[in-house]
Amino acid sequence: MGQTLIMTDGSQPTHVFDWDFRDADTKEGTHVIHSYPAMMIPQVARHLIALLRRLHPESQTLLDPFCGAGTVLVEAARQNLEAWGNDLNPLALRISKARTTPIDDNRLRSQLSALSCRLTPLALAAWKGPIPVFPGRDFWFKPEVAQALAFVAAQIREVADADVRDLAWIAFSETVRWVSNTRNGEFKLYRLPSDKLAVWNPDVLALYRGLLARYSEGLRTFNPELRQAPVAPRIVSGDACELSEVPDRYFDLMVTSPPYGDSRTTVAYGQFSRLSLEWLGAPSADARAIDQRLLGGKAVPMPVNALPSPTLQVSLAQIAQKDGRRAREVEAFYYDLDRAIAAITRKLKPGALCAWVVANRTVKRVVLPTDRIIAELSSTRQFSVVDNLTRNIPNKRMPLANSPSNIAGDTGATMTREHLLILRYNGGRQ
Ligand SMILES: C[S@@+](CC[C@H](N)C(=O)[O-])C[C@H]1O[C@@H](n2cnc3c(N)ncnc32)[C@H](O)[C@@H]1O
Repeated sequence: MGQTLIMTDGSQPTHVFDWDFRDADTKEGTHVIHSYPAMMIPQVARHLIALLRRLHPESQTLLDPFCGAGTVLVEAARQNLEAWGNDLNPLALRISKARTTPIDDNRLRSQLSALSCRLTPLALAAWKGPIPVFPGRDFWFKPEVAQALAFVAAQIREVADADVRDLAWIAFSETVRWVSNTRNGEFKLYRLPSDKLAVWNPDVLALYRGLLARYSEGLRTFNPELRQAPVAPRIVSGDACELSEVPDRYFDLMVTSPPYGDSRTTVAYGQFSRLSLEWLGAPSADARAIDQRLLGGKAVPMPVNALPSPTLQVSLAQIAQKDGRRAREVEAFYYDLDRAIAAITRKLKPGALCAWVVANRTVKRVVLPTDRIIAELSSTRQFSVVDNLTRNIPNKRMPLANSPSNIAGDTGATMTREHLLILRYNGGRQ
């Protein structure tokens, strides 16, 4: 099975194998560190980067403006590229940092075994420290669980090495998700039903120690390659519609998977991160405000010029016939996506290659072909399409048949296929 990359610039086609990666281990090395919604499959990131490098051999720098948990950054660093990641979600930035930072084996082992030794049930029973207060704490955590989490957090603060401490905090964050009263396997915050809650008695210390062991094993596997990166990946906090922390005309490659739509009706990154961020000490208001700050989180400023994508305009008109308000919400998302394309354009060197990994959603039973929409929006900024590959999504934890918003009729069967859209930037020359 394979797909052939058709080169529109006349150079030799490149043979690409099956992109489905049906049986791939998606938790290799540091990719095991912390779950995150809608992550890119590491194998997709790895082979896309390798493909782009074959097409643009002198590439040295790569940008992921929606870096999430850092899948692309890890794979770029392993391929000796200088990688920059940008995201608005502080939890995503911390996970990306933990996944891309090599730590000397001896240092890691000695610091973590000291931490593990302090995490005993006896020490927990004797501990009388304060438990953080935040809105909803007692709704989402049983008292003994909150007590154990506060105890673990106090021990993490004692870890001397900053990189080891960051890794320990990220294992803590994943523990928070597992031991809370939320239904596991959901990105949104849903409380366990009362019968399950009555018998919910997670062993915080054992879970935490288990995660630390898995993370350090993953780090040991990728350490040698991460260490070879020319410079450590730069991970910055910023709005992809502005990219103000990222240098202009600096990047040979851009590889990213943007959100599928606004957080309210697709993936709620803010809700996913909120309890972790509360425990990690982020101000409660910040932890709650993330979703409004992400793509499509705000209403479109009026009056708005129609975005230069005929495909989008057709889809919006069809949605508007059924629900005008919904059409404006969808438009708000693409309005932000267009601003992100404009910001990314400023960051690219002439001749740079971009890979967008996108799935097409359906709203009110109208398909939104985001791959074609991105290609059309980009063509007005001097991008040309190199190719548009497709892959099946074998077992991604994404809504397939039902609306993630639980709004009946909002979303039909969708997102079983993903597009890998490859564009070349032909502008930027003086
Ligand atoms: C599909 S996820 C990226 C997943 C990533 N490729 C990975 O493998 O972990 C999309 C990311 O875009 C981020 N995001 C959404 N809107 C943003 C914005 N306006 N500026 C920066 N990041 C944004 C979300 O926080 C989320 O982490």
